Amino acid sequence: MNSESRGDGKLRIALVGCGTVGSGVIRILRESTRLLELRTGRTFELRYVVVRDRSKQRPVSLEGCQVITDVDPILRDSEIDVVIQVMGGIEPARTRMLQFLAAGKDIITANKALLHAHGQELFEAASRADKTICFEAAVAGGIPIIATVTQSLAANRILSIEAILNGTSNFILSRMLDCGQTYEEVLREAQDRGYAEADPAMDVDGTDAAQKLAILTQLAFGTRVQLTDIVRQGIQNLELQDLEVAAELGYRIKLLATSKLAKKKLEISVQPTLVRSDRAIAQTNGADNIVAIEGDAAGLLRLSGAGAGQMPTASAVVADLIDYASGRAAITFKSLLRMQSLEQVPLLPQEELSRRYYLRMTVADRPHVLADIADILGRHEISISSVRQDETPEDEGEEAVARLVIMTHRTTEGRLRAADQELSSLSSLKGSCIRLPVSD
Ligand code: NAP
Ligand code: HSE
Repeated sequence: MNSESRGDGKLRIALVGCGTVGSGVIRILRESTRLLELRTGRTFELRYVVVRDRSKQRPVSLEGCQVITDVDPILRDSEIDVVIQVMGGIEPARTRMLQFLAAGKDIITANKALLHAHGQELFEAASRADKTICFEAAVAGGIPIIATVTQSLAANRILSIEAILNGTSNFILSRMLDCGQTYEEVLREAQDRGYAEADPAMDVDGTDAAQKLAILTQLAFGTRVQLTDIVRQGIQNLELQDLEVAAELGYRIKLLATSKLAKKKLEISVQPTLVRSDRAIAQTNGADNIVAIEGDAAGLLRLSGAGAGQMPTASAVVADLIDYASGRAAITFKSLLRMQSLEQVPLLPQEELSRRYYLRMTVADRPHVLADIADILGRHEISISSVRQDETPEDEGEEAVARLVIMTHRTTEGRLRAADQELSSLSSLKGSCIRLPVSD
């Protein structure tokens, strides 16, 4: 019997996962009880907390809750209305979610990896069971971007999204440049602060940002996107010298997630990108995220704030809980299901993406090297906008190397990829050529 049929106004909750996000949720439930009651006209009971290891010390009190490792008691308890699912990963999270829906529980989740990989299946299961899935915390941490796209901008056709969607990689890029810390040091700190995923490779290789961008893209444009559809590049191969050279040229490098209409098609990418230093995106530092979203009626909006971490993410989870308790979530979810029949905007082929580029390479400091590189770029119709090579000492002989930074005029990803292949066969090139797009 759920709260509606009981008619006692009390909402009974199960929390699956009590790590960074889960313990933040408990903290808000405990510390803001009165506020939640006033906002919803309901009372809340956290009845179950599911963890993997019951003996682990938790930063919050679990008094009054049944701490369990198996979800069966929740499935059997007909009084549980809603399950907050913050345990991460694909399995067993997917199977559990399907079981909860089949058992008549609504779901609130922060698990973007799962929503991206199995959102369709989960939404269909929720629809069949007449249940709701809320996922504000899955994208951009504490920033209310899901509510903005699905509710506040509902009157708009979305034209573009340009965003920083991964707190960990933004934290790394900011700290490396501003505090001189090494990549490894800052990544460790991001893990200690609870920003990073269980597998931090997903943060730094662009996977996490791409999953979030895919979710936003489907909500904003109706287009379902696989990770392989997205031009995706991580920050793991960047060096401090790239951040420094970009700064000298008037840019900051950001892991930029872009989804925008171009020639009635959707251009979509997640790449470290040079962004002019005076732009709000360039000035978004630390674990903050920003989403610049343009609607045809509302114009350009920018939302920024904490994109990862315990309390900002818990804030988004509890906002969903409040929406759910007050009946708004069910309305929004039904509208989302109807919007799935929106005609999908086709994707622009990756080779046709058109941007300016930054190229950085280390080359042998000997005659004709620059000419060879310029020749390759020229034959691929890539026009050079600027070339930068610092003076090298006179006496290093055969071993001398030089750093070459080339900014190109606008060209396509396809031409760049083809040129890059030829560049990589040059014996004068030491290591690989770093190529990053520029956002204008
Ligand atoms: P976390 O700190 O690793 O916590 C995960 C929790 O799930 C732990 O309490 C763990 O139990 C429990 N768990 C894992 N596997 C389980 C299993 N098989 N059975 C029962 N319990 C299990 O992760 P988190 O940072 O809170 O992230 C949770 C979710 O939120 C992820 O999907 C993540 O992508 C998403 N998210 C995180 C953030 C953030 O800033 N951290 C922001 C937005 C979204 P034990 O504690 O006993 O190990
Ligand atoms: N690992 C994610 C990040 C957590 O760093 O942005 C927020 O989704």
